Amino acid sequence: MKKILELLSEEMGKAFETAGYDAALGRVTISNRPDLCEYQCNGAMAGAKQYKKAPIAIASDVAEQLKGSRAFSEVQAVAPGFLNLKISEKYLLEIIETMASEPKFGLEQPEKKKKIIIDYGGANVAKPLHVGHIRSAVIGESIKRICRYAGHEVIGDVHLGDWGLQMGLVITGVQDRQPDLVYFDEKYQGEYPKEAPFTISELEEIYPAASAKSKEDPEYKARAMEATFKLQSGVRGYRALWKHILNVSVEDLRKNYGSLNVEFDLWKGESDVHDLIPEMVTYMKDNGYAHISEGALVVDVKEETDTKEIPPCMILKSDGASLYNTTDLATIMERMRLYHPDQIIYVVDKRQDLYFEQVFRCARKTKLVEPETELKFLGFGTMNGSDGKPFKTRDGGVMRLENLIRETKDEMYKKIREGRQMSEEEARQVAEQVAVSALKYGDLSNQASKDYIFDIDRFTSFEGDTGPYILYTIVRIKSILSKFKEQGGSLEGLKLLPAGNESEKALEMELVQFNTMMQAAAEETAPHKVCAYIYDLANAFNRFYHETKILGEEDVTRKESLLALLVLTRDVLKTCIDVLGFNAPDKM
Ligand code: ARG
Repeated sequence: MKKILELLSEEMGKAFETAGYDAALGRVTISNRPDLCEYQCNGAMAGAKQYKKAPIAIASDVAEQLKGSRAFSEVQAVAPGFLNLKISEKYLLEIIETMASEPKFGLEQPEKKKKIIIDYGGANVAKPLHVGHIRSAVIGESIKRICRYAGHEVIGDVHLGDWGLQMGLVITGVQDRQPDLVYFDEKYQGEYPKEAPFTISELEEIYPAASAKSKEDPEYKARAMEATFKLQSGVRGYRALWKHILNVSVEDLRKNYGSLNVEFDLWKGESDVHDLIPEMVTYMKDNGYAHISEGALVVDVKEETDTKEIPPCMILKSDGASLYNTTDLATIMERMRLYHPDQIIYVVDKRQDLYFEQVFRCARKTKLVEPETELKFLGFGTMNGSDGKPFKTRDGGVMRLENLIRETKDEMYKKIREGRQMSEEEARQVAEQVAVSALKYGDLSNQASKDYIFDIDRFTSFEGDTGPYILYTIVRIKSILSKFKEQGGSLEGLKLLPAGNESEKALEMELVQFNTMMQAAAEETAPHKVCAYIYDLANAFNRFYHETKILGEEDVTRKESLLALLVLTRDVLKTCIDVLGFNAPDKM
C-alpha cells in the first residue's frame, strides 16, 4: 500500500490542480508544529513565484477546494501561506484497515529483489569473543532481518578469522604444553584422534599467553610464523590440530551468538578461500593489475581525486605469505562465483574503513566484481564505558561477551524479582529475554557509526528509551488481551471504528508510519530507525492506555474496536522487535 504521506500528498495535489496550480506543489509532510496541526503543506509558498501571487492567496484557493474533503478534517490557510492540516478520523481508519489486512502491514515489495550477503560477526577463532564483536553481531543480525523482511534475499556469513598468525600462535602454544602430541610427529601416518586435546577454556588461555610471549620473544614469534606457514601449506598434523581448534571454538561461538539470537547462514572463514589464492594471484598478474613493489605483489588503487593518500593494496608479502587483504579479496571472488550477490555489506569496526576502501577499489579495478555489484562498508563506532573510553572490565581488562551477558542478566534478574510475584525459575527465564533486549536495544538505538556509552543501569531500566520499556509495553498489551479472553471474549473478527479520542488518533497516526519507516530502515540499513519508531509507538500506546477505558468500556462495538487496535499495535511492535533480534516474554 502507499505510504501515508503519499496518500495525503495525492489528495492535496488534486486540490492544487483543481484550484489551477501544479499538483506537484501538494507535498504533505508531518507537522513540525504538532501543537497547531498534524500535517502540513508548504506548496503555496513554493508556488508564489511561479504564479506571481501571494502565498496566502494560493493557500486559500487550495483550502477552498478541500472543503468537505474525505482525507482532511481541517485545512487552514495561515499567514504567510502555510496549509495546516488535520487528517479525518474516517480516512485514517481506512488506512489502518488496509494496513491491518495487507501482508507486512502494507510494506511494498522492492521493485528489484536484491541478493545481499552480509559479512558480520567476524569472530576470531580461539580468541574469546569480546565486546568489540558484540556490535558487529548485533547490528549485522538486525540488518539481515530488516533486509529480509523488506523482501530481499539475504545471506549472513560470519567470516571467521581462522587462518592468520593467531592460528600459528595457538598451535605453538599447544605444542609447548603438550609436545608429545601425535600432531607434531612428522612421521606419523595414521589417523588422528577424534577428540580435541584441549577444552574451550584451555584454548582461551593458550591464545593470550602465546600472543603475549610472541611480543617479547622474537624466537617464539618465529616459531609461530613457521607453524602458520606449515598449517597453510598443508602439513597434515597441523591441519588436523587446526580442525580441532576450529571445532571447539565454533561450538563455543555458536553458543554465545545463540544466546544473543544471532544466527548465521554460513559459517565460512578466511581458511575457506585459501585454495583460491594462487588462482587469484595468477589472474591479477596475467591481466596486468598487480605488480611487484619492493618484493611484494601489489595493486595500485589510488585515484586522481583522492584528497588523502590511499596506499596500494598488498596481495602477497615479499615472502609470498598472504594477508588479511588477500583472503578478503579471494572471499569476494568466491562469493561472486557461488552466490553472485547484488550487494555485499560488511559490518565491521569503522577503524577499518581505509582498509575496506583499498579492498573495494582493488576488487573493482581487478574486476573481481561486476560494475553494478555494490560493496558497502558499514563501519560502527566504539562501545565506551561511562568514562568515555573503550569499555573495560572493573579490573581494566577486556570485557568478554559472555560476562557482559551474564552481568546484564543478573542486573535484570534483580529488577524483575523486586516487587514481582514470580517464581525464581520464571524470573530467571524472563530476565534472560529482557537482558537481551536491554543489550541489543542499547546498541541498536544509536546510529551505528557513532560511539556510544554502555550504561547498564540505563539500558536495563523499564522506563525511557530502552529495550525493557518496549517489552513492558508489549507485555501490557498481551495481558489486556489475555484478560479479555479469560472473560470469555474472542479476538476473531473485531471491527475497528474511527478513533474516539485524541490519544487513540495519535496512536493510529504512529501505526500508519510503519511501512514508511521500514522501507527507510532497509534502504538505509538503519536499525536505529526501527528503535526510534517503536519508542514513539510505545509512548503513543501508553498515553492512549492511560487515557482510555478498554476492558471497562461498556459499548461493545467500541470495546471491540479498541481491542482490534491493541492487536494491531502488538503485532507491529512484535514485528519490529523481531527484526531487531529480540523477543517479548508473556509476563514480566
Ligand atoms: N576478524 C576481523 C576482526 O576481528 C573482522 C572480520 C571482518 N570481515 C572481513 N571480511 N574482513 O577484526
